[in-house]
Amino acid sequence: MPPLTVQPLDGTAIGAQISGLNLANVNDDVVRAEVRDAFERVGLIVFRDMEQSDELQLAVSGIIGPPQEHALKQMTQDPNNLGLIELSYEGNIVIENGKKIEGLVPWHFDACYSDKLNRAALLRALVITPEDGLTGFVDGVQLYKSVSTELRTSFENLRVIYHPTATHNNQLFGKTNGRKWISLSEKMRSLYAANEDAPRAVHPAIWQRQSGEHVLHVSPWQAVGIWGHEDSEGNALLESLCQEIYQKMEPYWHKWEPTDLVLWDNWRFIHSAGGNDPQYKRAMRRTTIKGDYGLGSYEADLVGDTVA
Ligand SMILES: [Fe+2]
Repeated sequence: MPPLTVQPLDGTAIGAQISGLNLANVNDDVVRAEVRDAFERVGLIVFRDMEQSDELQLAVSGIIGPPQEHALKQMTQDPNNLGLIELSYEGNIVIENGKKIEGLVPWHFDACYSDKLNRAALLRALVITPEDGLTGFVDGVQLYKSVSTELRTSFENLRVIYHPTATHNNQLFGKTNGRKWISLSEKMRSLYAANEDAPRAVHPAIWQRQSGEHVLHVSPWQAVGIWGHEDSEGNALLESLCQEIYQKMEPYWHKWEPTDLVLWDNWRFIHSAGGNDPQYKRAMRRTTIKGDYGLGSYEADLVGDTVA
């Protein structure tokens, strides 16, 4: 009997769920190959019935690659475990349709504001809210197939510029009508103040995996324009793509159990934290997994490059 059970995820056509992984078999070559194969194939894995420990979380991350420090140095918490951080968005509150929501993080891929994109991330819940507090995932392979042919053609050779501070009330593209940030934690404000002068990074809107699949990979959160087309026409084009993404996406929203670990391919998926009622606390533990798809740059490194 194979050590792992790999099954489709309930209620969605994307991702997979795996059970049977534990500290006793996490270093087994056959087990590791099975996890890597599922990860390469579907890009989103929910591991079920996992022991709740940093040791197991780090070991599962290690199947995909070595740990990587967060792209914003200020996020590092444990110098002995650079790839491991606790995420809590306490104090970041939006008001939407008259309702306060804490911890909402709009659709994005991690480190879009950096020239290098971490390969993946692995998340587990430390404190779960009794309602809401879900994490959403959208497959860029599915998105590429779903958006209009016109937009797909327009963005085939375009690159999107990102900056770490184009967030919250400074989000420029793909904003949601009627949503207003009413408070930001001191931690978040100092994080953005420290990165105000950070260089802008550029990533392709569409890229092709080794498997041949095309990925539409655009993060509305932190996008600041189309490289070489920072004009009203280019801005309108990027905004229509963001709205098309929202219209055509088929997200999987993960409802957390304390024994879940969720792994996603950061070169393929965008994700979002849905937020929760501010009366509840929510805390997550994330490992970041090193890698680079080699297609991102800082703007200064593109001098002399041609605009499509
Ligand atoms: Fe994220």
